[in-house]
Amino acid sequence: MLSHCFNRLFDIHQLHTPRDFVPIANVPICLEIGAGKGKHALQFAQNNPDKMLYAVERTANKFEAMQKLKTDNTPNLFPIHADAIAWSVFALYPKQITECFILYPNPEPHNKNQRFTNMPFFEFLLSRMADNATITIASNIDDYIKESEKNLQKIWQLPFIKNTIPNHSQRTHFEIKYLARGELCQELIITKPTNYKTRFDDILPKHLWDTAND
Ligand SMILES: C[S@@+](CC[C@H](N)C(=O)[O-])C[C@H]1O[C@@H](n2cnc3c(N)ncnc32)[C@H](O)[C@@H]1O
Repeated sequence: MLSHCFNRLFDIHQLHTPRDFVPIANVPICLEIGAGKGKHALQFAQNNPDKMLYAVERTANKFEAMQKLKTDNTPNLFPIHADAIAWSVFALYPKQITECFILYPNPEPHNKNQRFTNMPFFEFLLSRMADNATITIASNIDDYIKESEKNLQKIWQLPFIKNTIPNHSQRTHFEIKYLARGELCQELIITKPTNYKTRFDDILPKHLWDTAND
C-alpha cells in the first residue's frame, strides 16, 4: 500500500538539531506530540509501566509544568522540550513507535496546512510507526476531525475509527476545558497496516546521518 498520491515530500534536510538534543535507543516507544502540561502523559506512564512514553512539548512553561509532574514512580516518562517535528526527525528510527497521541492540537483555522494530516511531516511520522501501531488524534473542532477523516481516506489510505469522547473524560487540560463548556470532543484512532510504505522507510534518525547517510 503506497501513500505516493501525497506528492509534497517532507523536507528533512532543512531541519536543525534541537537544542540539548539527546539521542534515544532503537527500542519500541510511545510518543505524545504537543503534550501540554503532561496530564495525559503522566496518566499513561503510570498506567503502562512497561511502556516508554516520550512526551514532546515546545512551549517552555508547559514543558516545565510537565517536568514537575514526573516522579520517581514514572521512570518510563521522558518529557522532551522541543519542536516535535525536528525532534522526531533527529531521534526516531523507522517503525519505532507503537502508539502516538496528538491530543487537541492547535486548530490552525487560518493556516490549515499546519494541521497534522495536511502536513508532509505526516508521511514521515507514518514511517516511524510500527506495523499495526496507532495514532490517536483528538479535537473539539468538528472541521479538524472531518478534514482529517477525508485526508486519511483520500490521501493516506489509512483505516481509522472515530469515537465521541465521553463527558466525564479527563485525559488532558484542554479536554477537561472543552467538555466543561459542553463542546463535542472527538478522536480518530488510526492504524498503520502491515506492508504500508512511505518514502522515508529507509531513512535513519538524522543524528546518525554524518556517519551513515552523508
Ligand atoms: C491546544 S494545546 C493542547 C495541549 C494538550 N495536548 C492538552 O490537550 O491539554 C496544543 C499544544 O501543542 C503544542 N505544540 C504545537 N505544535 C507543536 C510541535 N510542533 N511540537 C511540540 N509541541 C507542539 C503547543 O505548544 C500546545 O501546548
